Amino acid sequence: MVRLSLTPNALQILEERYLLRDPDGKVMETPEEMFRRVSEWIAGTERNNREYWEARFFRMMNNLEFLPNSPTLMNAGLPGGQLSACFVLPVEDSLDAIFTSLKNAALIHQSGGGTGYNFSRLRPKGALVSTSKGFSSGPVAFMKIYDAATEHVKQGGKRRGANMGILNVDHPDIEEFISVKTDRVSLRNFNISVGITDRFMAAVEKDLSWGLKDPRTGRAVRNIPAKKLWDQITGTAWATGDPGLIFLDSINRDNPTPGLGEIRSTNPCGEVPLLDYESCNLGSVNLSKMVTAHGGNYEIDFNRLAETVHAAIRFLDNVIHANHYLLPQIKSISLKNRKIGLGLMGWAELLMLMEIPYASTGAVKLAEKLMAFVRKESYKASASLAEERGCFPSWTESRFYPDQKMRNATCNSIAPTGTISVIADTSYSIEPLYALAYRRVGILGGKSQQELNKVFKTKISRMGYWSEHLENTVLQTGSIQKIQGIPEQVKNIFKTSLDIPWEFHLQHQRAFQTFTDNSVSKTINLPAEAGAGDISDVYMTAWKYGLKGITIYRDGSKEKQVLQRCNVS
Ligand code: CDP
Repeated sequence: MVRLSLTPNALQILEERYLLRDPDGKVMETPEEMFRRVSEWIAGTERNNREYWEARFFRMMNNLEFLPNSPTLMNAGLPGGQLSACFVLPVEDSLDAIFTSLKNAALIHQSGGGTGYNFSRLRPKGALVSTSKGFSSGPVAFMKIYDAATEHVKQGGKRRGANMGILNVDHPDIEEFISVKTDRVSLRNFNISVGITDRFMAAVEKDLSWGLKDPRTGRAVRNIPAKKLWDQITGTAWATGDPGLIFLDSINRDNPTPGLGEIRSTNPCGEVPLLDYESCNLGSVNLSKMVTAHGGNYEIDFNRLAETVHAAIRFLDNVIHANHYLLPQIKSISLKNRKIGLGLMGWAELLMLMEIPYASTGAVKLAEKLMAFVRKESYKASASLAEERGCFPSWTESRFYPDQKMRNATCNSIAPTGTISVIADTSYSIEPLYALAYRRVGILGGKSQQELNKVFKTKISRMGYWSEHLENTVLQTGSIQKIQGIPEQVKNIFKTSLDIPWEFHLQHQRAFQTFTDNSVSKTINLPAEAGAGDISDVYMTAWKYGLKGITIYRDGSKEKQVLQRCNVS
């Protein structure tokens, strides 16, 4: 067995937030004991071969080849341990319903999960409230209440909760919603996205008028040029990074159980579209460990990858059983569909190991091949669990019926891996490196550490370009692009987020999305000098690519993003 080897950053995060503490607040387990606690709890649902699976699950976590989402690491084995990261809650048009969901969201946040909601069913601002004969405050005002509550409910006392707030593009309050974060104070604990339909996109393309409708009657209360709304969306996203878009039609075309209802929202980072009250647990395979080396040349080890995917799907399916559900409604729909989301981390490091530039057609093609393989193996694993344990209960109402037996209505999601990639010491999700050297700071403001990315350091040394000058330049600037004497093809391998044209960011998102049944969380990074026209091009191309959502970040446009960045900065 390989000994667990953690970076100082990983150790710090684990000690501050993951390892169990005694009543006096003293840490009472080692990271290895944490993985034992998790594997024992998750394998505890096995009927046969429990010991085998416990050892298998332990090994893949302890080798940092696979990690489940944070709530599973934090809460497995604890009384009432809530293990899922992702939830969607309904927001119906009554005071009672609004505050019931707020209370439920607080409970979810307290347990370490994040919640998404679509506020479009709320009557617009200024509409009459029959009980009080007053006027409604509208969805944005209620979102601010949700935000304030989130601010004060820390997840398991460890980090603040995260929310996704959606308003559909035909809601009368859409303009207020689009600009709500421009004051840089409101909705700090929300990612916000406009719920976009294909009809709206066609109206933008044809420069048509667009009707804003009262959600209670479906009748248009006002018309505005679609293009004007589009310009407001893209202009505001240029200035502040928000709002993103979610493409509702694309999401519902892939809804595995349309008979159970329409999907209106995703979880906070967008990687899991869910029905009202549905939850999902995630896990990610560390690609930087799925390689074989021949001399200095690396290749993907597809056998190990397949084996890891199969064990990971089993692990995530077990989590559904080992989980504690906070509400009967969450339990009911989550057990009916048994959605899981197996994703990836370490994609950028894998590419560097293989000496393939992120901004290249070769990388995009490899992304397709890799994700097609992960999906195929995930589906095989879920199908074989269906043979062993039965199909998910709503299978007969799903698009899989009757041809394909499945244990899970969905299998894959590409999550941001904001914390687990730091624990595994690899690059975030499918993102390129933000810099070749950077500080990783503990979430509670602990000591920071300045270091070179380890894969970069190994590779550049092996290639014979390492020097003290190079190391100092990279520690100062995070880049090798301006260093003289390094050939272009070497520089290309080590390009970072802002050196990579948005077209390639988006092509990677499309490549992974094509083979992901849920969704892909990705940030399309743009340099500070990008214009609002670029944002418009990114958003329009995202729709044309059939993506399920899109998030951009123009360098310097906000201090930090709600999720990917607040986990680490
Ligand atoms: O790395 P980790 O497992 O902590 O999480 P992630 O991959 O960055 O985020 C996955 C999901 O966890 C998000 O989409 C949210 O649903 C949830 N999350 C949250 O609720 N609160 C956070 N502070 C971070 C993530």
